[in-house]
Amino acid sequence: MLHLHLTSIIVAIVLFFVSAMMQKGSTAQKMTHMILRLFYILILFSGGYVFSEMMASSLAMEYGLKLLGGLLVIGLMEIILVRKEKEKTIGFLWILFIIILAFTLYMGYHLPL
Ligand code: HEM
Repeated sequence: MLHLHLTSIIVAIVLFFVSAMMQKGSTAQKMTHMILRLFYILILFSGGYVFSEMMASSLAMEYGLKLLGGLLVIGLMEIILVRKEKEKTIGFLWILFIIILAFTLYMGYHLPL
C-alpha cells in the first residue's frame, strides 16, 4: 500500500507541474488536470489506509501532521490549477505549496514505515 502511495505521489507531482506549465484551457491541460484528480483519490486511499493502521501507534501526532500536510498539498495543487485557469494570482500559493510539500515529504520519510 505504501508502494501505491509513493508511486501515486510521484505521478501526481509530475502531472501537476506539467498541467501547471501548459497553456491554460488547452485540451491537453484539461486532460492532465483530470487525470491528476484521479491520482488524488489513489493518494488519499493509499495514505488513508496506511494511516488507519498506524494512527493508534505512539507516533499518532506525527501521523496526524503527515495526513494534514498531505491534504493541504492536494488542496493547494487543485487551488493553484483552478486559479490559474481563472487567471487569478497564484504567486503566494506556489511558495506555500513548495513549503508544505517539503514538509510532507520530510514527514513521509521521517516516519518509520
Ligand atoms: C500529495 C500529498 C502527499 C505527499 C507528497 C506524501 C508523501 C509521502 C511520502 C514521501 C511517504 C513515504 C513513502 C515511503 O517511505 O515509501 C509517505 C508516507 C505516508 N503517507 Fe503520504 N503523502 C501525501 C498525502 C498523504 C495523505 C493525504 C495521507 C493520509 C490520508 C498520507 C498518509 C501517509 C502515511 C500514513 C504514510 C506512512 C508513513 C510512514 O510510516 O512511513 N499521505 N507520504
